[in-house]
Amino acid sequence: MEKKEMVLVLDFGGQYNQLIARRVRECNVYAEVHPYTMTLDEIRKMDPKGIILTGGPNSVYAEDSVHCDPALFSMGIPVLGICYGSQLMAYLLGGTVRTAPISEYGSTSVSVNTSSKLFHGISDETEVYMSHTDHIAKVPEGFEITGSSAACPIAAMENVAAGLYATQFHPEVTHTVEGKKIISNFVYTICGCKGDWTMGSFVDNKIKEIRSRIGNGRVLCALSGGVDSSVAAVLMSKAVGRNLTCVFVDHGLLRKNEGDEVEKIFGPSGPYELNFIRVNAQQRFYRKLAGVTEPEKKRKIIGAEFINVFEEEAKKIGTVDFLVQGTIYPDVIESGLGDSAVIKSHHNVGGLPDHVDFKEIIEPLRMLFKDEVRKVGKELGLPDNLVFRQPFPGPGLGVRIVGEVTEEKVRITQDADAIFREEIEKAGMSKSIGQYFAALSNMRSVGVMGDFRTYDYAVVLRAVDTGDFMTASCTDIPFKVLQTCMNRIINEVKGVNRVMFDLTSKPPGTIELE
Ligand code: XMP
Repeated sequence: MEKKEMVLVLDFGGQYNQLIARRVRECNVYAEVHPYTMTLDEIRKMDPKGIILTGGPNSVYAEDSVHCDPALFSMGIPVLGICYGSQLMAYLLGGTVRTAPISEYGSTSVSVNTSSKLFHGISDETEVYMSHTDHIAKVPEGFEITGSSAACPIAAMENVAAGLYATQFHPEVTHTVEGKKIISNFVYTICGCKGDWTMGSFVDNKIKEIRSRIGNGRVLCALSGGVDSSVAAVLMSKAVGRNLTCVFVDHGLLRKNEGDEVEKIFGPSGPYELNFIRVNAQQRFYRKLAGVTEPEKKRKIIGAEFINVFEEEAKKIGTVDFLVQGTIYPDVIESGLGDSAVIKSHHNVGGLPDHVDFKEIIEPLRMLFKDEVRKVGKELGLPDNLVFRQPFPGPGLGVRIVGEVTEEKVRITQDADAIFREEIEKAGMSKSIGQYFAALSNMRSVGVMGDFRTYDYAVVLRAVDTGDFMTASCTDIPFKVLQTCMNRIINEVKGVNRVMFDLTSKPPGTIELE
């Protein structure tokens, strides 16, 4: 296979390590994140076109500081140091780094020398994002200053002959208005990349690679209907066709009609060549969940039962050679970047099945970010409603129904959720909200409908704006839309006499109710 270009991101513990790699990839150049401890030999083997040193929480002069080998700067590979990476470059090459008189956090204006290759095409006064307490006080020999702000006289520096560039600010974050152009200048003009990383090329190469790895082996995949497992399944199906068997466990805690939708796409009448097994295990799950109210216990039961069902099906198939996992790149990076990336359990519910006979794990999406997985999904012809699907927790409605899960509560939640989703779609908000759904409180209260007293459940509508799902704030949904939802849910969903809107942000609340 022809060699692809790559840019290496060496991670010094900065919170934006993934973002740097994503920005590079947005320029159609492949990037990988590796720990700063990588040896020069290992780096040479990867043959990167350029190296980016990330930010990090350390001070270069502190005793417990993290350094790379100074010889990194004379390998003949262009280097861009960002924040801590810039200070490290200065320090290791003989410049001076000190605690800045004023720490800077946030947006600031920097004047840059636009004749620098790094800043070509950038406004000479540009808005950037700074986050530092140390700064470069003196540049190393051979370097010149190419950017400065009021509080940071050396906001950027470079040594063109050595191919070394550095910015105190963070070009990778969106607050740096022209950051994307700066990264693109680095990878194209300075590193000489051509931009061969596209999802079309990824798909072609991956299919070839999977075929040669798997040969005529048998492959088993747990399909949840989520984006990652669906895209992984389709990719595998394109590569090995009927050697792939997908097992879809319908645990009865999916959204309304979801099981049928998954079956329509992956089942025999769908467009893909694979063996599809749908296990209708709804009643099994409801039985196991009867009387259980404690959230963690519910999660564990659902996870364990999922594995049981999956293993039973796998046993019927017999020995398989490969088990597909939908691991994606953030999982790999977050698990410490080592060789032993944590294996994400199929659809996140439980863990890896203990009693399935397989020889190897295959993770076709291991090097992709979520937005790239979606692009691959589009490339492979998966429908938009699946590719741009909202995150849906593995334990499904089990964590959206407060207290005991019963079949009736599942029906109420599914129906209310379908109405809420329909109305959000109609209001044109479906793509802009991070996550939204209907949940069911465990509260029953008195109401009146017609001439009758009712004693029914309260549905909770939840909608949050979030980028990372670690923090979230309540979405500002027009009151009229909420009122329509309330009217429809009460009129159309039997068993509900109250609808509430959850205003809680995260923290202190979580996104799911349990
Ligand atoms: P919380 O409720 O923790 O949710 O604020 C954050 C994000 O994670 C999803 N979530 C889960 N996903 N298994 C999953 O696969 C789970 O047990 C689980 N719990 C929460 C949730 O939907 C949100 O996107």
